[in-house]
Amino acid sequence: MSQWPDTRILDLFGIALPIIQAPMAGATSPEMVIAVSEAGGLGSLPSAQYNVEQLRLALETIRAATKKPINVNFFAHTMPEIDLGRQASWRKRLVPYYIEAGLDPAMPVPAGGRAPFDGFFCEVVEAYRPEVVSFHFGLPDRGLVERVRATGAKIISSATTVAEARWLADRGVDAVIAMGFEAGGHRGNFLTEDMATQVGTMALVPQIVDAVKIPVIAAGGIGDGRGIAAVFALGACAAQIGTSYLFTPEAKIPAVHRVALEHASDDSTALTNVFTGRPARGVMNRIMREIGPLTDLAPAFPTAGGALAPLRAKAEAMGSGDFTNLWSGQAARLAQSLPSSELTTGLASEAIALMKRLAGH
Ligand SMILES: Cc1cc2nc3c(=O)[nH]c(=O)nc-3n(C[C@H](O)[C@H](O)[C@H](O)COP(=O)(O)O)c2cc1C
Repeated sequence: MSQWPDTRILDLFGIALPIIQAPMAGATSPEMVIAVSEAGGLGSLPSAQYNVEQLRLALETIRAATKKPINVNFFAHTMPEIDLGRQASWRKRLVPYYIEAGLDPAMPVPAGGRAPFDGFFCEVVEAYRPEVVSFHFGLPDRGLVERVRATGAKIISSATTVAEARWLADRGVDAVIAMGFEAGGHRGNFLTEDMATQVGTMALVPQIVDAVKIPVIAAGGIGDGRGIAAVFALGACAAQIGTSYLFTPEAKIPAVHRVALEHASDDSTALTNVFTGRPARGVMNRIMREIGPLTDLAPAFPTAGGALAPLRAKAEAMGSGDFTNLWSGQAARLAQSLPSSELTTGLASEAIALMKRLAGH
């Protein structure tokens, strides 16, 4: 018999531990996914910063190394029309930084993108058949969702409010990720854009549990066994954990990001849209402080980042994270620097021990 008080997610995904390593575009490596899935959790491969070929390659590596269930994650946004006026104002706002860095403010910049799920990515899902497919920013078109479902994959997506959880449940997702305000990276919001009213994990999880019949996965600010036990008490049946996995050797992040995480405390992060055009939580740095953290000037997601790319590259080469998106949740301080495999089993053991103690065993 399982030691976990609620095994719905374990049964649904066919995993041993209710720990989902969060997909983290730009930070999660195939090695992290392999280590977590082999340890009994659910390793999650993010695709937003991959093209189709890179995704295939990563899945080849993973499927060759583990037969355990995996999750492949996609963004479900629609690409905006390029607004030349807005791009020009944005670049104008960044001119002083270009001059300070000795860069030509008129230099060409990359498009600055995160790729949405489409028919080509769907072909990769059909070929590699991950056991779980997760989406962020809602769901793609119904036709694409049906194609994913036809592969047998369980489909999950993030909700930042009860209304978003209901919307997802009405469209037949198998489980919902309740993403609290504490979470690192992009907010998964898709029915609201109001960041002032976003909900914390402690308040969000039980209200989503009460509102939908499907299993709820809690995310945001869960950094150790206490957080996992807490979200089980709130009615969740698994924890999706991101920031803690950034401290593992399998995380592929720049040195400036690692340093920022190591120094982060409870109040080091803020929500910002300066890096991509959509609000995301990261460690506060110079660019966030000086033109954000939230600004109406940033062009629509995901196009804001292109103009920052040369500044970021120049600063990072000099050991500065002034222009880097230092994604982190509010619980970075709780993270332990362990390999992904040991982190996964350690978190599970801590949570089980704590739940037994609380139950008086
Ligand atoms: C560096 C980083 C990148 C992220 N990228 C993604 C992503 O590509 N897709 C996604 O669904 N969520 C992404 N997230 C959000 C996580 O899935 C998860 O909800 C969050 O990390 C949980 O909160 P925590 O960081 O406090 O553990 C990212 C989070 C971080 C910290």
